[in-house]
Amino acid sequence: MAQLWGGRFTKETDKLVYAFNASISFDKKLYKQDIRGSKAHARMLARQGIITGQEEALIQNGLDSILEDIEEGRIEITEEYEDIHSFVEANLIDRIGDPGKKLHTGRSRNDQVALDMRLYTRDEILETRGLVYDLLSTLHGLMEDHINTCMPGFTHLQKAQPITLAHHLGAYFEMFKRDLLRLDDIYDRMNYCPLGAGALAGTTYPLDREFTATQLGFTGPTLNSMDSVSDRDYLIEYLAAASTIMMHLSRFCEEIIIWNSNEYRYIEIDDSYSTGSSIMPQKKNPDIAELIRGKTGRVYGALMSLLTTMKGIPLAYNKDMQEDKEEAFDAMDTVKGCIRLFDGMIGTVKFNKDIMAASAVKGFTNATDAADYLVLKGVPFRDAHGIIGRLVLYCIDKDCSIDDLSIDELKGICDKFDEDVYDAISLKTCVEKRLTIGAPGSGAMKDEIARGRDFLEQKRK
Ligand code: ARG
Repeated sequence: MAQLWGGRFTKETDKLVYAFNASISFDKKLYKQDIRGSKAHARMLARQGIITGQEEALIQNGLDSILEDIEEGRIEITEEYEDIHSFVEANLIDRIGDPGKKLHTGRSRNDQVALDMRLYTRDEILETRGLVYDLLSTLHGLMEDHINTCMPGFTHLQKAQPITLAHHLGAYFEMFKRDLLRLDDIYDRMNYCPLGAGALAGTTYPLDREFTATQLGFTGPTLNSMDSVSDRDYLIEYLAAASTIMMHLSRFCEEIIIWNSNEYRYIEIDDSYSTGSSIMPQKKNPDIAELIRGKTGRVYGALMSLLTTMKGIPLAYNKDMQEDKEEAFDAMDTVKGCIRLFDGMIGTVKFNKDIMAASAVKGFTNATDAADYLVLKGVPFRDAHGIIGRLVLYCIDKDCSIDDLSIDELKGICDKFDEDVYDAISLKTCVEKRLTIGAPGSGAMKDEIARGRDFLEQKRK
């Protein structure tokens, strides 16, 4: 047991208490951030004349060598220390002696951990954003390829109206665009430095918080020192953004699973992204899509867990806040892994264009257009709706599509039908005539794709 405190204690900490209280098993992930923050703090202490230039140089070299030794595997972060902060400080003192004991001047582990976690989350926001950006690029390429790939659009999982694959993918493009913008917003809001807030009430040393903040790439220092050590809003915001990304991925995975099913066969997931069955030799399962859908739950769990942890904590720092880490780290790794895998999976999927188009022709997806045709011939829409409804019933009975009926059969139901109906309700016309902003017609879709290209250009990493 190696801890930074003990002076006012007369008894050893109980072993179970020590283990329960320690966080090193998971906060060792923060070693880089802890060392980076300590280096900035030492720089500032020297600049303010709180430690000497010579002491600072020793501290900087000591911290650099610790970082190097960890990265080269020469030292291991072991559980005999309470947390990563204790580990780094104790190691520094071992290496350089007394000057090492001055590093913690004007600092508390409360503002130290607040800084470490913020630095870590800031990097995660950027990495997650980069992966969302890559996925957007993949989707954009697929949209360009599939402007003319017709398929049915669904409501209630029932065929509704014809659309294109570009249009369907475009819906997800919008979702992931919002996800990227959300991460950018969070970054701007969270990029302030809590170091210098001390335990809760600042310090009496003349710290230059602006200087520390600038050194660490922050927009500036956080303000109120009590809020600085007890704010985890930025992490909650990240987890909410990650949950929304997972929700989008999960919906997309659900569709991929349906489209890949034996009944639909709209797509075939590549062998490299599929798995087999140990007993059924014919099986090729969409496990990756199912797992991404499944892992959504644990990311939501991390968000709920932190919200619940934070809800009853009085100001300022309380140990409950140590619980902000494990599940957040897990959620960060999960969401990044899922975006990466999804990107690979969707980028290698084979789209069975003929099956998609045939499916769009089959399910009366042109019924609205047939009604609109009658409206153009002077039939009021409500009457046209009834006529086409009867027509659909007739077709179901004959097991055919509206397009398969002869002109005499059509006229038998409504004399307003003419030869031009076949063109008016063809799959191609039904899609192509939909040209309002955001609609699937190729004219409108090309505009949407151009706007998507501008977005990717503007938001390039
Ligand atoms: N391990 C702690 C955490 O993660 C570090 C801060 C400890 N501060 C304290 N006063 N016990 O929150």
